[in-house]
Amino acid sequence: MRFDIITLFPQIFAGYLTQSLLAKAIDRGLVEIHIHDLREWSTDTKHHKIDDKPYGGGPGMLICVDPVVHCVEAVQQMSEKPGVVVMMTPQGDRLDQRRVEEIARFERMILLCGRYEGFDQRVIDILAPLELSVGDYVLNGGEVASMVVVDSTVRMIPGVLGDEQSSWDDSFSRGNRMLEFPQYTRPAEFRGHTVPDVLLSGDHKRIANWRAEQSLNKTKLRRNDLFDKEGDA
Ligand code: ADE
Repeated sequence: MRFDIITLFPQIFAGYLTQSLLAKAIDRGLVEIHIHDLREWSTDTKHHKIDDKPYGGGPGMLICVDPVVHCVEAVQQMSEKPGVVVMMTPQGDRLDQRRVEEIARFERMILLCGRYEGFDQRVIDILAPLELSVGDYVLNGGEVASMVVVDSTVRMIPGVLGDEQSSWDDSFSRGNRMLEFPQYTRPAEFRGHTVPDVLLSGDHKRIANWRAEQSLNKTKLRRNDLFDKEGDA
């Protein structure tokens, strides 16, 4: 899977791209990530300006249409696979696990990260991007949101996760939107807090039942809305 990320802050991605799971997936050729600096497509050769004041007035600055359209067109040409253009914006469709599974089927995505007050509307009219939000709050820009998209979709690519982690994901995310049951590791007792006896019993059936019950209760208590979503895939 190939990601092209268009940003005004390319240096933000350096640490993230070299962290273990993603770095391994890149090393093994399962994932390709290319970062593009939008300023390189600025028509202002002196200051590499890419933003301007909104017509009609109002606070803040908007990212201009011309550098974005030129940049996306140039980036599309960098691979034979056509990329789905995705704009990170709080106005977009909310990303959830179902949407992650859907977009993980794309062979290539071109992620547009906004800053300031957003993009000139003509970027949307011309490029018709898939607009995605990572939640109902406003980030300083689309960079962190685009990392959420990359991070959540690469987990869906066969071979990226070890067997153990991927079967975990299978049973606890795809189709099954229950919250996780509580987990414990050593020591068996800490400051009087002990591990539930059932987990020390060695009885796999009882353990599985206990975990299912814990998941169900936690989901009912915290996220009853997840039950409504079930089955409407
Ligand atoms: N850019 C700023 N806030 C965002 C959000 N919540 N989701 C996606 N992109 C954003």
